[in-house]
Amino acid sequence: MTYNFDRTPNRRDPNVLNKWTWYPSDVLPMWVADMDFPAPNPILDQLRKAVAHGVLGYELPSNALKTTVAERMERLYRWKVEPEAVIAVTGIVSGFSVAARVLCTPRKGVLVQTPVYNEFHEIKNNVGIPQLNAPLVKRVKSNILTYEIDWDVFKRQAKKAGMFLLCNPHNPLGIVFSRKDLRRMAEICIENDVLIVSDEIHSELLLGGNSFTPIAKLSTEIASRTITLIAPSKTFNVPGLFCGFAIIPNKELRERYNREVERLRLHVSSMGLHAAHVAFSGQCDDWLIELRSYLTSNRDFLVDYVATYMPQVRTTVPDATYLGWLDFTQTPIKDSPYDFFLNEAKVALSDGKIFGEEGKGHVRINFGTSRKILQQGLDRMRRALHSESIRKISLGLIQSHLKTANTRLSYE
Ligand SMILES: Cc1ncc(COP(=O)(O)O)c(C=O)c1O
Repeated sequence: MTYNFDRTPNRRDPNVLNKWTWYPSDVLPMWVADMDFPAPNPILDQLRKAVAHGVLGYELPSNALKTTVAERMERLYRWKVEPEAVIAVTGIVSGFSVAARVLCTPRKGVLVQTPVYNEFHEIKNNVGIPQLNAPLVKRVKSNILTYEIDWDVFKRQAKKAGMFLLCNPHNPLGIVFSRKDLRRMAEICIENDVLIVSDEIHSELLLGGNSFTPIAKLSTEIASRTITLIAPSKTFNVPGLFCGFAIIPNKELRERYNREVERLRLHVSSMGLHAAHVAFSGQCDDWLIELRSYLTSNRDFLVDYVATYMPQVRTTVPDATYLGWLDFTQTPIKDSPYDFFLNEAKVALSDGKIFGEEGKGHVRINFGTSRKILQQGLDRMRRALHSESIRKISLGLIQSHLKTANTRLSYE
């Protein structure tokens, strides 16, 4: 290992509001989706160079940057993208919000696969369009959770949609959808004249031996009906720089999209553009290989820990992302596990219900941190869960004793 992912700088600067300072200082933050690792050196060096130059003027995405993005798609997926198809956006949330403004109407809504990234749920109100849910179906085997597409529901909802907002890899479930599933989703979208917006922000955070295919790579017909959203932000841990890209091969669609980006004046910061250029150039790929291996062992540690010490808890085994999904519905925690762990364990997780109704009784845990911090968080959760189990058992015993005593008394 060349990079030391066990080293996580202190992020508790009281003048900065981030996930480490949001809650009181005794709370361990395992929520917002950024990692605790410093970004790779080539990116930091480039930013230092820009600062040393001293002039932080306006900048626009250059042709060289667009070419770098296109070449990365070719290198990673053998997907041929023309540089002119690449549009810089101020992050992926703005990227899909713009798409919804362009593609949806009050009669043609946005189709999503719940439980899904909380910002997907904000579009309906922000843009004023219907949200059409096609919930993923949960399956349980021992304590492992998997999720499947209900094709009948997907088809039914697609009929009413203007756009399908795909989350691949999926947040919070960590699924990398198979080519077969992607093809079937795309076919249904084509049949129903629904355009696809594919949020692929987590696509380079692959765990274990998983591989990834952008949905637009499957055919030129699918590509011509798809807006693909990518960013260096999650992969290289620079989300605070707010820079992403929409890849839109279809010229007419791209022009419509671009007009809305221009209308809303969504200009990307120069530092975001600099970071993205270096990130996608390949200079940070050694770092990324080691990061993936570290995250894979964190994922395996999490899954083993849960099976060994909290066997009533169910968990996903994510194919990608640094996000785990834990199901507490079979445990003594009867209300919100988010509140329970915040109050009883001093661990801040993401409340499952922000990802949709199906997320009640679940939490999302961020394992993009050092092993030490991950273990600390899990130890705290395990102790709190254990105490709660004992409390519930004692309460149960006391209640059954009282019942027996009352019954005896009524006979005496
Ligand atoms: C699926 C997904 N899309 C988008 C984002 C946020 O993207 P941005 O910060 O570029 O708007 C996140 C962050 O967690 C995410 O998980």
